[in-house]
Amino acid sequence: MSLSSTGSVLVVFHWSLTVVLGQGDWGVTYSTQSICVLKGSTVELSCTYKYPSGHKVTSTFWFTRKYTDGNPVNLSDDPDYRGRVTYRSDEKNRHTLIITDLRETDSTKYGFGFITDQPGGKWIGQTGVALSFPGLQVVVTGGYMKNLTCRTTCPPPINPNTTYIWYKNGQQIDESSSPQYKDPIYIHYKDSYSCSVKGHEDLHSPTVCVQGQACNRVTYTKRRICVLKGSSVDISCTYVGYYNVTSSLWFSPKQSGRWRDKLIPEDLTTDPGYAGRVEYPDQESTIYRGTSTLRITDLREEDSAEYRFTFKTDIFGWGHDLPGTTLTVSDVQVKMTPVTVTEGQNVALTCITSCPLTHNPTYIWYKKTVTSPKASGQSYSITNITSEDSGEYYCEVRNGRGSMYSSALMVTFAGKQTSVLTASVGITVVVLVLILCLSGYICFRRGDIYVFETKFHIYTQM
Ligand SMILES: *[C@@H]1O[C@H](CO)[C@@H](O)[C@H](O)[C@H]1NC(C)=O
Ligand SMILES: *[C@@H]1O[C@H](CO)[C@@H](O)[C@H](O)[C@H]1NC(C)=O
Ligand SMILES: *[C@@H]1O[C@H](CO)[C@@H](O)[C@H](O)[C@H]1NC(C)=O
Ligand SMILES: *[C@@H]1O[C@H](CO)[C@@H](O)[C@H](O)[C@H]1NC(C)=O
Ligand SMILES: *[C@@H]1O[C@H](CO)[C@@H](O)[C@H](O)[C@H]1NC(C)=O
Repeated sequence: MSLSSTGSVLVVFHWSLTVVLGQGDWGVTYSTQSICVLKGSTVELSCTYKYPSGHKVTSTFWFTRKYTDGNPVNLSDDPDYRGRVTYRSDEKNRHTLIITDLRETDSTKYGFGFITDQPGGKWIGQTGVALSFPGLQVVVTGGYMKNLTCRTTCPPPINPNTTYIWYKNGQQIDESSSPQYKDPIYIHYKDSYSCSVKGHEDLHSPTVCVQGQACNRVTYTKRRICVLKGSSVDISCTYVGYYNVTSSLWFSPKQSGRWRDKLIPEDLTTDPGYAGRVEYPDQESTIYRGTSTLRITDLREEDSAEYRFTFKTDIFGWGHDLPGTTLTVSDVQVKMTPVTVTEGQNVALTCITSCPLTHNPTYIWYKKTVTSPKASGQSYSITNITSEDSGEYYCEVRNGRGSMYSSALMVTFAGKQTSVLTASVGITVVVLVLILCLSGYICFRRGDIYVFETKFHIYTQM
Protein backbone atom coordinates (compact mmCIF):
# COMPACT_ATOMS: atom_id res chain seq x y z
CA MET A 1 0.00 0.00 0.00
CA SER A 2 1.45 3.32 -1.01
CA LEU A 3 -1.17 5.77 0.08
CA SER A 4 -0.89 9.04 1.83
CA SER A 5 -3.26 9.07 4.77
CA THR A 6 -5.15 12.10 3.47
CA GLY A 7 -5.97 10.44 0.16
CA SER A 8 -6.95 7.10 1.60
CA VAL A 9 -10.66 7.65 2.04
CA LEU A 10 -11.28 8.44 -1.60
CA VAL A 11 -9.10 5.66 -2.93
CA VAL A 12 -10.44 3.08 -0.48
CA PHE A 13 -13.93 3.88 -1.67
CA HIS A 14 -12.79 3.13 -5.19
CA TRP A 15 -11.33 -0.18 -4.02
CA SER A 16 -14.57 -1.19 -2.42
CA LEU A 17 -16.04 -1.26 -5.91
CA THR A 18 -13.20 -3.56 -6.93
CA VAL A 19 -13.94 -5.88 -4.03
CA VAL A 20 -17.57 -6.08 -5.06
CA LEU A 21 -16.25 -7.40 -8.35
CA GLY A 22 -14.42 -10.13 -6.48
CA GLN A 23 -10.86 -8.82 -6.57
CA GLY A 24 -8.59 -7.26 -4.02
CA ASP A 25 -7.38 -8.25 -0.63
CA TRP A 26 -9.53 -5.85 1.37
CA GLY A 27 -13.14 -6.22 2.31
CA VAL A 28 -15.93 -6.41 4.86
CA THR A 29 -18.78 -8.90 4.64
CA TYR A 30 -21.79 -8.47 6.89
CA SER A 31 -23.50 -11.60 8.18
CA THR A 32 -26.91 -10.18 7.31
CA GLN A 33 -28.40 -7.27 5.35
CA SER A 34 -31.23 -6.37 7.66
CA ILE A 35 -32.39 -7.20 11.17
CA CYS A 36 -35.82 -6.73 12.65
CA VAL A 37 -35.70 -5.60 16.26
CA LEU A 38 -38.01 -4.56 19.05
CA LYS A 39 -37.68 -1.37 21.05
CA GLY A 40 -35.70 -1.86 24.25
CA SER A 41 -34.15 -5.13 23.07
CA THR A 42 -30.50 -5.97 22.32
CA VAL A 43 -29.06 -6.73 18.90
CA GLU A 44 -25.77 -8.22 17.66
CA LEU A 45 -24.42 -7.24 14.22
CA SER A 46 -21.50 -9.29 12.89
CA CYS A 47 -19.10 -9.07 10.00
CA THR A 48 -15.94 -10.70 8.72
CA TYR A 49 -13.12 -8.69 7.17
CA LYS A 50 -9.97 -9.33 5.16
CA TYR A 51 -6.76 -7.46 4.40
CA PRO A 52 -3.42 -8.22 2.69
CA SER A 53 -0.91 -10.40 4.51
CA GLY A 54 1.80 -8.42 6.23
CA HIS A 55 -0.73 -6.09 7.80
CA LYS A 56 -1.76 -6.27 11.43
CA VAL A 57 -5.11 -4.79 12.48
CA THR A 58 -4.63 -2.21 15.22
CA SER A 59 -8.07 -0.66 15.52
CA THR A 60 -11.63 -1.59 14.60
CA PHE A 61 -14.85 0.38 14.72
CA TRP A 62 -18.50 0.49 13.66
CA PHE A 63 -20.17 3.67 12.44
CA THR A 64 -23.41 5.12 11.10
CA ARG A 65 -22.20 8.58 10.07
CA LYS A 66 -19.07 10.50 9.17
CA TYR A 67 -17.40 13.72 10.18
CA THR A 68 -17.38 16.44 7.53
CA ASP A 69 -13.79 15.41 6.65
CA GLY A 70 -15.10 11.96 5.66
CA ASN A 71 -13.80 10.06 8.68
CA PRO A 72 -16.42 7.83 10.30
CA VAL A 73 -17.60 8.56 13.84
CA ASN A 74 -16.60 5.56 15.98
CA LEU A 75 -19.96 4.31 17.28
CA SER A 76 -18.52 3.88 20.77
CA ASP A 77 -17.80 7.65 20.73
CA ASP A 78 -21.16 8.58 19.25
CA PRO A 79 -23.21 10.48 21.84
CA ASP A 80 -26.47 8.97 20.53
CA TYR A 81 -25.20 5.52 21.51
CA ARG A 82 -23.38 6.39 24.71
CA GLY A 83 -23.34 3.50 27.16
CA ARG A 84 -25.26 1.22 24.80
CA VAL A 85 -22.49 -0.08 22.54
CA THR A 86 -20.09 -3.00 23.08
CA TYR A 87 -17.51 -4.34 20.62
CA ARG A 88 -16.53 -8.02 20.57
CA SER A 89 -13.87 -9.75 18.50
CA ASP A 90 -13.71 -13.33 19.75
CA GLU A 91 -12.73 -14.85 16.41
CA LYS A 92 -9.94 -13.82 14.08
CA ASN A 93 -11.13 -11.44 11.33
CA ARG A 94 -14.61 -11.39 12.74
CA HIS A 95 -16.17 -8.54 14.67
CA THR A 96 -19.48 -8.08 16.48
CA LEU A 97 -21.31 -4.95 17.50
CA ILE A 98 -23.79 -5.22 20.37
CA ILE A 99 -26.33 -2.44 20.88
CA THR A 100 -28.53 -2.58 23.95
CA ASP A 101 -31.75 -0.74 24.83
CA LEU A 102 -32.65 -0.22 21.17
CA ARG A 103 -34.46 2.98 20.24
CA GLU A 104 -36.34 3.82 17.09
CA THR A 105 -33.67 6.36 16.22
CA ASP A 106 -31.30 3.37 15.86
CA SER A 107 -33.13 2.26 12.70
CA THR A 108 -30.42 3.14 10.23
CA LYS A 109 -27.58 1.38 8.38
CA TYR A 110 -24.41 0.28 10.15
CA GLY A 111 -20.93 -0.09 8.69
CA PHE A 112 -17.62 -1.51 9.87
CA GLY A 113 -14.06 -0.29 9.35
CA PHE A 114 -10.54 -1.08 10.52
CA ILE A 115 -7.04 0.32 10.58
CA THR A 116 -3.79 -1.63 10.23
CA ASP A 117 -0.23 -0.93 11.30
CA GLN A 118 0.94 -0.24 7.72
CA PRO A 119 0.97 3.30 6.25
CA GLY A 120 -2.46 4.07 4.78
CA GLY A 121 -3.75 0.72 6.01
CA LYS A 122 -7.35 1.68 6.49
CA TRP A 123 -10.59 0.20 5.26
CA ILE A 124 -14.02 1.72 5.67
CA GLY A 125 -16.79 -0.68 4.68
CA GLN A 126 -19.99 0.60 3.16
CA THR A 127 -22.84 0.87 5.63
CA GLY A 128 -24.41 -2.52 5.12
CA VAL A 129 -26.64 -3.75 7.93
CA ALA A 130 -30.03 -2.10 8.37
CA LEU A 131 -32.00 -2.22 11.60
CA SER A 132 -35.75 -1.88 11.36
CA PHE A 133 -38.65 -2.02 13.76
CA PRO A 134 -41.74 -4.08 12.98
CA GLY A 135 -45.21 -2.78 12.34
CA LEU A 136 -48.34 -4.88 12.98
CA GLN A 137 -51.34 -5.57 10.81
CA VAL A 138 -54.62 -7.46 11.25
CA VAL A 139 -55.07 -9.94 8.40
CA VAL A 140 -58.63 -11.21 7.83
CA THR A 141 -59.39 -14.48 6.03
CA GLY A 142 -62.46 -16.67 5.68
CA GLY A 143 -66.06 -16.16 4.63
CA TYR A 144 -68.99 -15.73 7.02
CA MET A 145 -66.77 -16.72 9.94
CA LYS A 146 -63.46 -14.85 9.89
CA ASN A 147 -59.99 -15.83 11.02
CA LEU A 148 -57.99 -12.90 12.39
CA THR A 149 -54.19 -13.03 12.32
CA CYS A 150 -51.76 -10.49 13.75
CA ARG A 151 -48.99 -10.14 11.20
CA THR A 152 -45.68 -8.31 11.66
CA THR A 153 -44.23 -6.36 8.72
CA CYS A 154 -40.75 -7.62 9.62
CA PRO A 155 -40.52 -10.64 11.88
CA PRO A 156 -38.51 -9.98 15.05
CA PRO A 157 -36.26 -12.76 16.40
CA ILE A 158 -38.61 -15.46 17.64
CA ASN A 159 -39.23 -15.12 21.32
CA PRO A 160 -41.23 -18.07 22.65
CA ASN A 161 -42.84 -15.72 25.16
CA THR A 162 -44.38 -13.40 22.59
CA THR A 163 -47.95 -12.68 23.63
CA TYR A 164 -50.44 -11.20 21.19
CA ILE A 165 -53.14 -8.92 22.50
CA TRP A 166 -56.47 -8.40 20.73
CA TYR A 167 -58.67 -5.34 21.02
CA LYS A 168 -62.30 -5.02 20.00
CA ASN A 169 -63.70 -1.48 19.88
CA GLY A 170 -60.71 -0.17 21.82
CA GLN A 171 -61.10 -2.68 24.62
CA GLN A 172 -58.73 -5.57 25.28
CA ILE A 173 -60.55 -8.87 24.70
CA ASP A 174 -57.87 -11.57 24.52
CA GLU A 175 -54.23 -12.50 24.99
CA SER A 176 -52.63 -15.51 23.35
CA SER A 177 -49.27 -16.95 22.38
CA SER A 178 -50.46 -17.58 18.83
CA PRO A 179 -50.68 -14.74 16.30
CA GLN A 180 -54.06 -16.15 15.22
CA TYR A 181 -57.18 -15.10 17.15
CA LYS A 182 -58.48 -18.12 19.12
CA ASP A 183 -61.56 -19.00 17.00
CA PRO A 184 -63.04 -17.96 13.70
CA ILE A 185 -65.61 -15.30 14.59
CA TYR A 186 -68.60 -13.55 13.11
CA ILE A 187 -67.81 -9.83 12.86
CA HIS A 188 -70.60 -7.27 13.03
CA TYR A 189 -70.59 -4.01 11.01
CA LYS A 190 -70.28 -1.95 14.21
CA ASP A 191 -67.12 -3.68 15.50
CA SER A 192 -63.46 -2.86 14.90
CA TYR A 193 -60.37 -4.93 15.70
CA SER A 194 -56.70 -4.26 16.40
CA CYS A 195 -53.78 -6.30 17.76
CA SER A 196 -50.50 -5.66 19.53
CA VAL A 197 -47.60 -7.52 21.13
CA LYS A 198 -47.32 -7.56 24.91
CA GLY A 199 -44.62 -5.22 26.17
CA HIS A 200 -44.78 -3.29 22.89
CA GLU A 201 -48.41 -2.19 22.98
CA ASP A 202 -47.54 1.10 21.31
CA LEU A 203 -46.77 -0.89 18.16
CA HIS A 204 -50.43 -1.85 17.80
CA SER A 205 -51.90 -2.44 14.34
CA PRO A 206 -54.25 0.00 12.68
CA THR A 207 -57.87 -0.55 13.72
CA VAL A 208 -59.85 -2.38 11.01
CA CYS A 209 -63.57 -2.66 10.32
CA VAL A 210 -63.68 -6.05 8.48
CA GLN A 211 -67.35 -5.52 7.46
CA GLY A 212 -67.96 -2.24 5.64
CA GLN A 213 -66.46 1.07 6.75
CA ALA A 214 -68.94 2.24 9.39
CA CYS A 215 -67.45 0.51 12.46
CA ASN A 216 -66.62 2.34 15.69
CA ARG A 217 -63.03 3.47 15.63
CA VAL A 218 -60.44 6.03 16.66
CA THR A 219 -57.44 6.76 14.44
CA TYR A 220 -54.64 8.92 15.82
CA THR A 221 -52.93 11.22 13.32
CA LYS A 222 -49.52 10.38 14.84
CA ARG A 223 -48.50 7.55 17.14
CA ARG A 224 -45.48 9.37 18.48
CA ILE A 225 -44.71 13.07 18.81
CA CYS A 226 -41.48 14.68 19.98
CA VAL A 227 -41.48 18.41 20.74
CA LEU A 228 -39.35 20.94 22.57
CA LYS A 229 -39.87 21.91 26.17
CA GLY A 230 -41.73 25.22 26.46
CA SER A 231 -43.46 24.85 23.10
CA SER A 232 -46.98 23.61 22.42
CA VAL A 233 -48.38 20.53 20.74
CA ASP A 234 -51.55 19.48 18.91
CA ILE A 235 -52.46 15.81 19.24
CA SER A 236 -55.32 14.83 16.98
CA CYS A 237 -57.46 11.91 15.91
CA THR A 238 -60.43 11.09 13.76
CA TYR A 239 -63.24 8.93 15.08
CA VAL A 240 -66.30 7.14 13.82
CA GLY A 241 -69.27 6.12 15.96
CA TYR A 242 -71.62 3.48 14.59
CA TYR A 243 -74.35 5.17 16.64
CA ASN A 244 -74.78 8.89 17.40
CA VAL A 245 -71.78 10.22 19.33
CA THR A 246 -72.96 12.01 22.46
CA SER A 247 -69.73 12.98 24.23
CA SER A 248 -65.95 12.72 23.91
CA LEU A 249 -62.80 13.56 25.88
CA TRP A 250 -59.00 13.17 25.96
CA PHE A 251 -57.22 11.51 28.87
CA SER A 252 -53.79 10.26 29.88
CA PRO A 253 -53.48 6.84 31.57
CA LYS A 254 -50.50 8.27 33.49
CA GLN A 255 -52.98 10.42 35.46
CA SER A 256 -55.18 7.48 36.51
CA GLY A 257 -54.00 7.83 40.12
CA ARG A 258 -55.91 11.13 40.28
CA TRP A 259 -59.21 9.77 38.95
CA ARG A 260 -62.12 9.20 41.34
CA ASP A 261 -62.49 5.71 39.84
CA LYS A 262 -59.32 4.19 38.40
CA LEU A 263 -61.35 2.62 35.58
CA ILE A 264 -63.19 5.77 34.52
CA PRO A 265 -60.88 8.19 32.69
CA GLU A 266 -61.30 11.85 33.51
CA ASP A 267 -61.14 14.71 31.07
CA LEU A 268 -57.66 16.23 30.86
CA THR A 269 -59.16 19.75 30.90
CA THR A 270 -60.25 19.10 34.51
CA ASP A 271 -56.79 17.85 35.63
CA PRO A 272 -55.09 20.37 37.98
CA GLY A 273 -51.64 19.32 36.60
CA TYR A 274 -52.65 20.75 33.23
CA ALA A 275 -54.66 23.71 34.52
CA GLY A 276 -54.79 26.50 31.95
CA ARG A 277 -52.59 24.56 29.52
CA VAL A 278 -55.09 22.26 27.81
CA GLU A 279 -57.79 23.03 25.28
CA TYR A 280 -59.74 21.34 22.53
CA PRO A 281 -59.51 23.56 19.45
CA ASP A 282 -60.80 22.42 16.05
CA GLN A 283 -63.59 20.10 17.14
CA GLU A 284 -65.44 19.12 14.02
CA SER A 285 -68.16 16.58 13.96
CA THR A 286 -71.25 15.29 12.31
CA ILE A 287 -73.41 12.83 14.21
CA TYR A 288 -71.28 9.80 13.46
CA ARG A 289 -67.77 11.00 12.81
CA GLY A 290 -65.39 13.78 13.66
CA THR A 291 -61.93 15.09 14.27
CA SER A 292 -60.71 16.07 17.68
CA THR A 293 -57.57 17.91 18.72
CA LEU A 294 -55.95 18.12 22.12
CA ARG A 295 -53.69 21.16 22.49
CA ILE A 296 -51.20 21.34 25.37
CA THR A 297 -49.24 24.58 25.75
CA ASP A 298 -46.16 25.56 27.78
CA LEU A 299 -44.93 21.95 27.68
CA ARG A 300 -42.99 20.54 30.61
CA GLU A 301 -40.89 17.38 30.70
CA GLU A 302 -43.44 15.69 32.97
CA ASP A 303 -46.05 16.05 30.18
CA SER A 304 -44.19 13.22 28.40
CA ALA A 305 -46.91 10.57 28.42
CA GLU A 306 -49.42 8.76 26.28
CA TYR A 307 -52.67 10.51 25.41
CA ARG A 308 -55.89 8.76 24.42
CA PHE A 309 -59.25 9.81 23.07
CA THR A 310 -62.56 8.21 23.92
CA PHE A 311 -66.19 8.83 22.99
CA LYS A 312 -69.64 7.68 23.98
CA THR A 313 -72.71 7.00 21.91
CA ASP A 314 -76.22 6.45 23.23
CA ILE A 315 -75.61 2.76 23.82
CA PHE A 316 -71.86 2.26 23.52
CA GLY A 317 -68.56 3.56 24.89
CA TRP A 318 -65.23 3.29 23.03
CA GLY A 319 -62.77 1.20 25.10
CA HIS A 320 -59.89 2.74 27.05
CA ASP A 321 -57.22 0.09 26.47
CA LEU A 322 -55.88 0.83 23.01
CA PRO A 323 -52.74 3.03 23.06
CA GLY A 324 -53.06 6.52 21.60
CA THR A 325 -50.33 9.06 20.87
CA THR A 326 -47.11 9.03 22.87
CA LEU A 327 -45.72 12.50 23.52
CA THR A 328 -42.09 13.09 24.45
CA VAL A 329 -41.06 16.56 25.59
CA SER A 330 -37.39 17.08 24.90
CA ASP A 331 -34.57 19.15 26.28
CA VAL A 332 -31.56 20.17 24.14
CA GLN A 333 -27.95 19.26 24.94
CA VAL A 334 -24.54 19.57 23.33
CA LYS A 335 -22.29 16.48 23.22
CA MET A 336 -18.69 16.39 22.08
CA THR A 337 -17.22 13.52 20.04
CA PRO A 338 -14.78 12.07 20.90
CA VAL A 339 -15.13 12.83 24.60
CA THR A 340 -11.39 13.30 24.98
CA VAL A 341 -9.28 15.11 22.39
CA THR A 342 -5.82 16.52 22.08
CA GLU A 343 -4.61 19.41 19.98
CA GLY A 344 -4.77 18.75 16.23
CA GLN A 345 -7.63 16.27 16.42
CA ASN A 346 -10.99 16.57 14.74
CA VAL A 347 -13.95 17.21 17.01
CA ALA A 348 -17.67 17.16 16.38
CA LEU A 349 -20.16 18.98 18.58
CA THR A 350 -23.64 17.51 18.23
CA CYS A 351 -26.90 19.11 19.23
CA ILE A 352 -28.99 16.37 20.80
CA THR A 353 -32.66 16.09 21.66
CA SER A 354 -33.94 13.08 23.62
CA CYS A 355 -36.13 12.00 20.67
CA PRO A 356 -36.24 12.79 16.94
CA LEU A 357 -38.23 16.03 16.66
CA THR A 358 -41.55 15.66 14.85
CA HIS A 359 -41.45 18.97 12.97
CA ASN A 360 -38.27 19.10 10.88
CA PRO A 361 -35.78 20.95 13.04
CA THR A 362 -33.01 23.32 12.00
CA TYR A 363 -29.90 23.83 14.12
CA ILE A 364 -27.73 26.88 14.60
CA TRP A 365 -24.37 26.95 16.39
CA TYR A 366 -23.00 29.79 18.48
CA LYS A 367 -19.82 30.46 20.33
CA LYS A 368 -20.07 32.83 23.27
CA THR A 369 -18.42 36.22 22.70
CA VAL A 370 -18.77 35.66 18.94
CA THR A 371 -21.83 37.53 17.72
CA SER A 372 -22.57 35.81 14.42
CA PRO A 373 -23.61 32.14 14.33
CA LYS A 374 -20.74 29.73 13.70
CA ALA A 375 -22.58 27.14 11.62
CA SER A 376 -25.83 25.36 10.91
CA GLY A 377 -26.63 21.64 10.93
CA GLN A 378 -27.04 19.16 13.77
CA SER A 379 -23.28 18.60 14.09
CA TYR A 380 -20.59 21.24 14.09
CA SER A 381 -17.11 19.96 13.19
CA ILE A 382 -13.90 21.56 14.28
CA THR A 383 -11.01 20.11 12.32
CA ASN A 384 -7.46 20.27 13.66
CA ILE A 385 -8.54 21.80 16.95
CA THR A 386 -6.22 24.36 18.56
CA SER A 387 -6.34 26.43 21.73
CA GLU A 388 -7.93 29.22 19.67
CA ASP A 389 -11.03 27.07 19.48
CA SER A 390 -11.46 27.12 23.28
CA GLY A 391 -14.68 28.66 24.44
CA GLU A 392 -18.28 28.05 25.26
CA TYR A 393 -20.42 26.56 22.52
CA TYR A 394 -24.16 26.16 22.40
CA CYS A 395 -26.78 25.33 19.82
CA GLU A 396 -30.26 26.56 19.03
CA VAL A 397 -32.97 24.23 17.75
CA ARG A 398 -35.83 25.70 15.75
CA ASN A 399 -38.79 23.65 14.67
CA GLY A 400 -41.91 25.32 13.39
CA ARG A 401 -43.50 25.92 16.77
CA GLY A 402 -40.62 27.26 18.76
CA SER A 403 -36.97 27.57 19.44
CA MET A 404 -34.79 26.39 22.26
CA TYR A 405 -31.17 26.94 23.26
CA SER A 406 -28.98 24.26 24.77
CA SER A 407 -26.88 24.95 27.81
CA ALA A 408 -23.32 25.87 26.86
CA LEU A 409 -20.49 23.36 26.57
CA MET A 410 -17.14 24.71 27.69
CA VAL A 411 -14.20 23.56 25.58
CA THR A 412 -10.88 24.44 27.25
CA PHE A 413 -7.33 23.32 26.60
CA ALA A 414 -5.53 22.55 29.81
CA GLY A 415 -2.49 20.78 28.38
CA LYS A 416 0.08 23.54 27.84
CA GLN A 417 -1.13 25.74 30.66
CA THR A 418 -0.87 23.02 33.32
CA SER A 419 2.70 22.21 32.37
CA VAL A 420 3.89 25.71 33.39
CA LEU A 421 2.03 25.79 36.69
CA THR A 422 4.01 25.65 39.93
CA ALA A 423 3.71 22.55 42.13
CA SER A 424 1.34 24.09 44.69
CA VAL A 425 -0.97 25.39 42.00
CA GLY A 426 -0.68 22.02 40.34
CA ILE A 427 -2.02 20.36 43.49
CA THR A 428 -4.90 22.84 43.63
CA VAL A 429 -5.74 21.94 40.05
CA VAL A 430 -5.62 18.23 40.85
CA VAL A 431 -7.85 18.73 43.91
CA LEU A 432 -10.23 20.84 41.87
CA VAL A 433 -10.35 18.23 39.13
CA LEU A 434 -10.91 15.53 41.75
CA ILE A 435 -13.79 17.49 43.26
CA LEU A 436 -15.26 17.99 39.82
CA CYS A 437 -14.82 14.27 39.11
CA LEU A 438 -16.49 13.28 42.34
CA SER A 439 -19.37 15.69 41.80
CA GLY A 440 -20.21 14.09 38.50
CA TYR A 441 -18.35 16.18 35.95
CA ILE A 442 -16.34 14.54 33.21
CA CYS A 443 -12.64 14.00 33.89
CA PHE A 444 -9.79 13.65 31.47
CA ARG A 445 -6.10 12.94 31.40
CA ARG A 446 -3.69 15.81 31.49
CA GLY A 447 -3.23 17.16 28.00
CA ASP A 448 -6.79 16.52 26.99
CA ILE A 449 -9.38 19.18 26.48
CA TYR A 450 -11.39 19.68 29.64
CA VAL A 451 -15.09 19.85 29.14
CA PHE A 452 -17.33 21.41 31.74
CA GLU A 453 -21.01 21.75 31.24
CA THR A 454 -22.18 25.01 32.70
CA LYS A 455 -25.15 24.83 34.98
CA PHE A 456 -27.30 27.67 33.76
CA HIS A 457 -29.99 26.98 31.27
CA ILE A 458 -31.91 29.29 29.01
CA TYR A 459 -34.75 28.71 26.66
CA THR A 460 -37.25 30.83 24.88
CA GLN A 461 -40.51 30.30 23.15
CA MET A 462 -41.58 32.01 19.95
C1 LIG B 1 -13.25 2.79 18.36
O1 LIG B 1 -13.63 2.52 19.71
C2 LIG B 1 -13.11 1.31 20.23
C3 LIG B 1 -13.70 1.07 21.58
O2 LIG B 1 -13.69 2.25 22.35
C4 LIG B 1 -11.59 1.36 20.26
O3 LIG B 1 -11.07 0.14 20.74
C5 LIG B 1 -11.09 1.61 18.84
O4 LIG B 1 -9.69 1.75 18.84
C6 LIG B 1 -11.72 2.86 18.26
N1 LIG B 1 -11.31 2.98 16.88
C7 LIG B 1 -11.01 4.14 16.31
C8 LIG B 1 -10.55 4.09 14.91
O5 LIG B 1 -11.11 5.19 16.92
C1 LIG C 1 -59.29 -20.62 10.22
O1 LIG C 1 -58.04 -21.18 10.61
C2 LIG C 1 -58.13 -22.55 10.96
C3 LIG C 1 -56.80 -23.00 11.52
O2 LIG C 1 -55.74 -22.51 10.75
C4 LIG C 1 -58.57 -23.34 9.75
O3 LIG C 1 -58.68 -24.70 10.08
C5 LIG C 1 -59.90 -22.81 9.26
O4 LIG C 1 -60.27 -23.46 8.07
C6 LIG C 1 -59.85 -21.32 9.02
N1 LIG C 1 -61.18 -20.83 8.79
C7 LIG C 1 -61.48 -19.94 7.86
C8 LIG C 1 -62.90 -19.51 7.80
O5 LIG C 1 -60.61 -19.46 7.13
C1 LIG D 1 -40.08 -16.69 29.04
O1 LIG D 1 -40.83 -16.67 30.26
C2 LIG D 1 -40.27 -17.44 31.30
C3 LIG D 1 -41.21 -17.45 32.48
O2 LIG D 1 -41.99 -16.30 32.54
C4 LIG D 1 -38.91 -16.83 31.66
O3 LIG D 1 -38.30 -17.59 32.69
C5 LIG D 1 -38.02 -16.84 30.42
O4 LIG D 1 -36.80 -16.19 30.70
C6 LIG D 1 -38.69 -16.11 29.27
N1 LIG D 1 -37.90 -16.28 28.07
C7 LIG D 1 -37.63 -15.27 27.24
C8 LIG D 1 -36.81 -15.60 26.05
O5 LIG D 1 -38.01 -14.14 27.43
C1 LIG E 1 -79.22 10.10 15.88
O1 LIG E 1 -79.37 11.47 15.63
C2 LIG E 1 -80.29 11.79 14.63
C3 LIG E 1 -80.28 13.28 14.38
O2 LIG E 1 -80.19 13.96 15.60
C4 LIG E 1 -81.69 11.28 15.02
O3 LIG E 1 -82.61 11.55 13.97
C5 LIG E 1 -81.61 9.78 15.27
O4 LIG E 1 -82.84 9.32 15.76
C6 LIG E 1 -80.52 9.48 16.29
N1 LIG E 1 -80.36 8.04 16.39
C7 LIG E 1 -80.36 7.39 17.55
C8 LIG E 1 -80.18 5.91 17.48
O5 LIG E 1 -80.50 7.97 18.61
C1 LIG F 1 -3.09 21.95 12.30
O1 LIG F 1 -2.90 23.30 12.70
C2 LIG F 1 -1.57 23.63 12.99
C3 LIG F 1 -1.52 25.03 13.54
O2 LIG F 1 -2.38 25.90 12.82
C4 LIG F 1 -0.71 23.49 11.72
O3 LIG F 1 0.64 23.77 11.99
C5 LIG F 1 -0.84 22.03 11.22
O4 LIG F 1 -0.17 21.89 9.98
C6 LIG F 1 -2.31 21.66 11.04
N1 LIG F 1 -2.39 20.22 10.73
C7 LIG F 1 -3.16 19.74 9.77
C8 LIG F 1 -3.15 18.26 9.60
O5 LIG F 1 -3.85 20.46 9.06
